[in-house]
Amino acid sequence: MVAFPSRHLLAIEGLHPLYIGELLDLAESYALLNRSGQTRRDVLKGRTLINLFFEDSTRTRTSFELAGKRLGADVINMSVSNSSVNKGETLLDTASTLNAMKTDLLVVRHAQSGAPALLSQKVDAAVINAGDGTHEHPTQALLDALTIRRHKGRLENLTVAICGDVLHSRVARSNIHLLSAMNCRVRIVGPPTLIPAAAGRLGVEIHHGMRSGLKDADVVMMLRLQKERMAGGLVPSAREFFRFYGLDAEKLRVAKPDAIVMHPGPMNRGVEIDSAVADDPSRSVIGEQVEMGVAVRMAVLDILSRGPGRNDR
Ligand code: NCD
Repeated sequence: MVAFPSRHLLAIEGLHPLYIGELLDLAESYALLNRSGQTRRDVLKGRTLINLFFEDSTRTRTSFELAGKRLGADVINMSVSNSSVNKGETLLDTASTLNAMKTDLLVVRHAQSGAPALLSQKVDAAVINAGDGTHEHPTQALLDALTIRRHKGRLENLTVAICGDVLHSRVARSNIHLLSAMNCRVRIVGPPTLIPAAAGRLGVEIHHGMRSGLKDADVVMMLRLQKERMAGGLVPSAREFFRFYGLDAEKLRVAKPDAIVMHPGPMNRGVEIDSAVADDPSRSVIGEQVEMGVAVRMAVLDILSRGPGRNDR
């Protein structure tokens, strides 16, 4: 195991493939332990983990909580209502409170891109970005990669189609960085209004139709239509969106016969994905993504708790 280069995990962008591979290998071993029922470890005994969520979350927050508890940490959940946040001041006030509490690991979700990075400069704890605005969601990309690797045996040379509301998706951004770094062929698929203007610079293929975007894909990753981040007018209606961009059995037919279907959740059934596909055990790995989420977060907490450049476990 190679010592991790940084004290924090703020983004996938810039993370060397070597560290991505190491994190996935460690996560894989935690996944096997979790499956075997040996879920208790004392790697983080005596350490304090705070989940600081300025935005709603179900699976990310609970899986960090579970991951921390399985490793023996004391876990505290702090939910802060977004509406009452006066960004700079609140964040910095929060930082001094957290420092006073001697927090070791801090998991942060925030509606503003860059908020976890700002906090990381002010706290003594190792900071993990659990989703910041439309910027990144690094542990989601890691759990997606682990899920893909378990099904396909590798990441290299796979064709992955990331479909739908790419514009507002931090999940898409982290996945694009990770999958490109691991030599996947990445396509983004969606209407022009939901594809970021700078997409051309990300080194991905851009498709505006599902037929060309999904053709011979190994992995079809659907994204939630993030209405809460839209000023309005980006999609005519949910019904129209489903007709052109919603994944159903018919659209999936052009992908490889063994293509897997992914979604980070929460799903809008009948908007970006048809229930029949989402619930088809021969194609959908959505449940496994959630399971791998716990294992990946255990691996991240374990590695960061060792400190940068340290590998003394
Ligand atoms: C994602 C998020 O919050 O970025 N959800 C998650 O963490 N599983 C995706 C989304 O909200 O659509």
